[in-house]
Amino acid sequence: MKKTTNEIRKSFLNFFKKKGHVVIPSSSLIPKNDSTLLFTNAGMNQFKEYFLDQKKIFHPRIVTAQNCLRTGGKHNDLDNVGYTKRHHTFFEMLGNFSFNDYFKEEAIKYAWELLTSKKWFNINPYKLWISVYEYDEETYKIWRNIIQVPAKNIIKIGDKKNSQYDSENFWQMGETGPCGPCTEIFYKYHSKKLDDHEDFFENKNENFIELWNIVFIEFNRISKTKILSLKNKSIDTGMGLERISAVLQNVHSNYKIDIFQNLIKKIYKFANVRNVNNISLKIIADHIRSCAFLIAENIIPSNEHRGYVLRRIIRRAIRHGNKIGIKNHFFYKLVPDLIEVMGDSAEILKGQENKIKEVIKKEEIQFCQTLEKGLKILNIEINKSENKKMSGETAFYLYDTLGFPIELTSDICREKNIDIDFKGYNIAKEKQKNKSIQKNKFYKNYNENINIHDTCKFEGYKKYKIKSLIKHIFIKNSSVQIIQKGQKGTIFLEKTSFYPESGGQIGDIGEIYYKKSRFIVKQTKKFGDTIGHFGEIISGVMIINKFVYAKIDQIYRKNVQLNHSATHLLHSALREILGKNVIQKGSLVSNTHLRFDFSFSDNINLLKIQKIENTVNTQIRKNTIIKIKNLTLEEAKKKNAIALFDHKYKSLVRVVFVKDFSIELCGGTHVKRTGDIGLFKIISQSNISSGIKRIEAVTGQKAIEYLHIQDKKIKDISAILKSNNSNIKEKIEKIIKKVTYLEIKISELQQKENLHQIKKLIKNVKYINKVKILINIFQNYDQKSLRSIIEQLKKELKIAIIIFINKNRDNFTIIIGITKNLTHYVTAAEIMDIFIQKTGGKGGGKSTIAEGGSINIEKLPNFLIDIQSWIDKKLKK
Ligand code: SER
Repeated sequence: MKKTTNEIRKSFLNFFKKKGHVVIPSSSLIPKNDSTLLFTNAGMNQFKEYFLDQKKIFHPRIVTAQNCLRTGGKHNDLDNVGYTKRHHTFFEMLGNFSFNDYFKEEAIKYAWELLTSKKWFNINPYKLWISVYEYDEETYKIWRNIIQVPAKNIIKIGDKKNSQYDSENFWQMGETGPCGPCTEIFYKYHSKKLDDHEDFFENKNENFIELWNIVFIEFNRISKTKILSLKNKSIDTGMGLERISAVLQNVHSNYKIDIFQNLIKKIYKFANVRNVNNISLKIIADHIRSCAFLIAENIIPSNEHRGYVLRRIIRRAIRHGNKIGIKNHFFYKLVPDLIEVMGDSAEILKGQENKIKEVIKKEEIQFCQTLEKGLKILNIEINKSENKKMSGETAFYLYDTLGFPIELTSDICREKNIDIDFKGYNIAKEKQKNKSIQKNKFYKNYNENINIHDTCKFEGYKKYKIKSLIKHIFIKNSSVQIIQKGQKGTIFLEKTSFYPESGGQIGDIGEIYYKKSRFIVKQTKKFGDTIGHFGEIISGVMIINKFVYAKIDQIYRKNVQLNHSATHLLHSALREILGKNVIQKGSLVSNTHLRFDFSFSDNINLLKIQKIENTVNTQIRKNTIIKIKNLTLEEAKKKNAIALFDHKYKSLVRVVFVKDFSIELCGGTHVKRTGDIGLFKIISQSNISSGIKRIEAVTGQKAIEYLHIQDKKIKDISAILKSNNSNIKEKIEKIIKKVTYLEIKISELQQKENLHQIKKLIKNVKYINKVKILINIFQNYDQKSLRSIIEQLKKELKIAIIIFINKNRDNFTIIIGITKNLTHYVTAAEIMDIFIQKTGGKGGGKSTIAEGGSINIEKLPNFLIDIQSWIDKKLKK
């Protein structure tokens, strides 16, 4: 009996448990405390600090089944997914780790025992091939002399030309971090090859599958050119669970293992394809795994960072769904099946099924609104492009306006052998970025990898300008003594009036200056206990140990304060109107607006929104003095102060009071009286994930401007409609009715256009005796339309055999229509049998109509010749 993937995972963990390893759970897909990694991409990530001797491990032998994602950074497999037998976005990596305990020989012996022993995986040793780092004689000898692998099955792999340690057999976690030589175990699927070595390097049909990588962690890469030896030597191994399952389940593709087959079966039911090997099915089955696990880790589709990776994957899956004829929202429906097939690894998904489904569904609904339009534009551009190049501007328009990630556009273009003008795309993107930087001075390119340990006193609650001493200057990550006109960098002061971004409030902007030297501060952030001022020097120099003035932009700060105090009022108003189960989940307080995320499951109707606005504005009109006190945590609790989620507070806390209406722990800056806020207006309300709502609002002058804009919009619409404000709604309803009527008319015209097409086809009709024969090849034609055209043609031609071929990228379909009066001589089902025989395809049908398909496009020309002469003979008889 073949083992299921779930059983294989268990066996692996068990084997190493028996060898003295402690089983620990997979760590999060989001690496903790490691800004060099976007996602966990290997089993060893969670142990980075232990490998680097920075921390001491609780046990020297550990084993894990780690969830991994390879869709960005040094290890990125996204483009290969679906096109090869073995690549995935999400996969599980089985790994055993030794920390300064066993090393090369034992690690190799363990791997060999697990793979080949009858008691365990029982793989024929002759199927296994080994690669070693060319200069690692010790490892070669272990394989050759101790394990006794035949010399011809051991391949030595060296460095790439002129670059030491740049080799397939020298593993590195990323641009920096733990690394070392490795040895890999490959499984060879088919053995009838003349020259094995050549086959290994060429690897046609992916005959050799890399199963297990055993890394000897001996070094720490500090930079591109610097690599240091580590005091302790460790073992990090990684074996793809899906790959070993394919081998043990005797199938030559990861997509044929139990997990994927079950998912593919489900997707197949939604789709309009005949071929279960269709690439889109595999891509969707792969992508639901990464999406569900990312959402379970609280990543939400967005336009930035990890959220954008998730968005890209979901949208790619939806597009592939569309490609295989899935008409409705389907992707979210795969979640329950996924939970079922993932076995022990589904723990993290289980309690979150509804949330995962809702997040995906919302993204599906959103993207489907623009998908059709985007695909249409893409197709027009693809058909137009004579030089096989898609313009960068179109690609950017698709991205910016219709939400087509560039990778998705590129994926679609790749299918049609079209290149994207990436240069043009980047220029268009840059132009847009510059526009928005000018609009919003907030800088995004702040460098967060500065390594600094110091303190800085924040004096900005009371003072807008102070005299201070420059303690450190950084340009990018490097510490420097001096920074000069035109250079960007980060300045650290002894004390500052600049509020560093925290608790949702954005950091201050302003300037640091003395005499004629001026450094414009564009962003302020915390670095441990100190504060970094990021910006650009526009005149003179800034030098370490020099006294300077730090002066914030007061207008900017005041606008931020309006929004921060309004956020506290909003928080209390929400709890008053929606109930005490409203819990803050996040917030952003900027100079332009405020954003508040909170837990609440029900809908919030307009009436409630108005009540919330009224409550906040009533508090504003009361013009209450805002008081700030430092209390002990106990005292604050007694006053029922609201504390922030997930926060560790010191014993003395800062509490912001708006009388009894709002009492909240907060380190941010606030207005003196509520009346300073002027006006509060909610501008949007949305669901950001299951049970989490988001409210965005504006205050003060911005609120007035917002109302002006709304007012003008209504007036403009009234003018366009030639109506007045009072009957504008009725006027729009009338127009909608008219548009619906026109759409019906257009569809009638379209049918006429179809008839026109039919007339064109009739001209290609040939005769054999009195029978009309029509064979036509279409490219990517809508299958449904073909069916209806065939039926209409049968009526038109009266005695006819019609064969339509519809070519797609990697397969083609066939529809055969035969008029009833001919079925004594020839049937559609008969022709279908010949089709199946000659093309290796599939299909079926009745005497008058049959449908099928095949992936063997190369067999099409011969089939067409054969079928014509077959019909010829049959009818002449
Ligand atoms: N870190 C190595 C890899 O990812 C072995 O686990 O291949």
